[in-house]
Amino acid sequence: MEKLVIHGQKRLKGEVTVSGAKNAAVAIIPATILSDGDCTIENIPDILDVSILKDILTDLGSNIKKLNDSSLYIDNSNINSFTATNKQIGKLRASYYLMGALLGRFNKAVVTFPGGCDFGVRPIDQHIKGFEALGAKVEIEHGKVIITAQKLVGAPVYLDVVSVGATINIMLAAVKAEGVTTIENAAKEPHIVDVANFLNAMGADIKGAGTDVIKIRGKKHLKGGHTYTIIPDQIEAGTYMIAAAATKGDVLVKNVIPKHMESLTAKLQEMNVKVDVFDDSIRVYSRDKIQKVNIKTLPYPGFPTDLQPPITSLLCRAEGTSTITEGVWDNRFQYVDELKRMGAKIKVEGRMAVIEGPVRLTGAPVRAMDLRAGAAMVVAGLMARGETVISNISYIDRGYERLEEKLRALGADVERIK
Ligand code: EPU
Repeated sequence: MEKLVIHGQKRLKGEVTVSGAKNAAVAIIPATILSDGDCTIENIPDILDVSILKDILTDLGSNIKKLNDSSLYIDNSNINSFTATNKQIGKLRASYYLMGALLGRFNKAVVTFPGGCDFGVRPIDQHIKGFEALGAKVEIEHGKVIITAQKLVGAPVYLDVVSVGATINIMLAAVKAEGVTTIENAAKEPHIVDVANFLNAMGADIKGAGTDVIKIRGKKHLKGGHTYTIIPDQIEAGTYMIAAAATKGDVLVKNVIPKHMESLTAKLQEMNVKVDVFDDSIRVYSRDKIQKVNIKTLPYPGFPTDLQPPITSLLCRAEGTSTITEGVWDNRFQYVDELKRMGAKIKVEGRMAVIEGPVRLTGAPVRAMDLRAGAAMVVAGLMARGETVISNISYIDRGYERLEEKLRALGADVERIK
């Protein structure tokens, strides 16, 4: 078991380049199944979730070649199975995209029930509702989701909750359905637009991605032969912006789409952190005291739930009492007990955390409870006096490419040990 050891209180300084978006990559890789041709995908992050998906697709019959550190060539002409049930699938939340993609290609899909980070109930009822609306029958047996359709026929789908996964999954199935599907109350996250752009590059007809009504006109065949570049990772960018503020540093975060960062930029500025926004980079610097703020996480364009854990660590430094209300997940404050080991004064009541500041965190042995909780421990470790040892870091590796290398280049004292 590897661990990250951080000696904190070093100001982060310099430049960091953000990798491709995890949550776009984990949808676009399964989406390639919808074409029986080939494609090249660039700006793919080199993270554990991506390598698990590569293995799953290879098992299904894909021919995948790594062209360089961030590009994959994928040829799906030989995929001949609609059954994705290997052990790895249970580890990965995004394996649910195999359902929409295999269903779109074969009118059938058998996929192990998805796993992933645990922060409360993670239902897939809206995904199922969408598949059923398109004419599929969905059964869950022995831990597998079995989906079958005579043919898929476009239909209106109204999502009862704004769901990123359901929006993308329904899009994946609907691009091959006969006729028109409309998804109402769709999620608007940047990676939804990215997946739609990728599918449109294969010849799909999707309009309205990025708004709450998406209209998909099904196509019989999606072509291959194109190259697509994934957008930069909004959450990785946000994590470095927060880490810069947390260490009173001065960091230029490069390869970002500033529009995607607006909710975080606004909150950092409200906290009295300096943020300069350029075309495709953002500089975050601060030597001053940080002011308390209240935050509520919401679907995009609201403040992202995936940045809630790392910004909680930062708020331990703020003058006064801050609150964070979690508006997306039921139970995403489990990591708070780990922060308390480092001296944080945080009370959690239901979906709200009350963070008393300023507190000087001190290093301690802590666990990464999930991916973004791991990011919270890293930010806290960078701020803290003394040594922080983070265990369970395979969670962090699932979503952050070369984290300790990037942090070290900014002057952090971080080491990975066995
Ligand atoms: N929900 C339902 N029914 C469904 C689907 C979702 O009730 O069928 C509820 C969930 O319980 C939750 C809310 O809807 O309360 C939103 O869930 P959503 O479906 O949007 O989440 P997801 O697609 O499973 C993705 C990201 C998460 C991110 C959320 C919200 C991927 C692979 N995962 O999850 O990212 O927190 O959207 O933005 O894209 C992460 O990267 O660390 C991560 C957890």
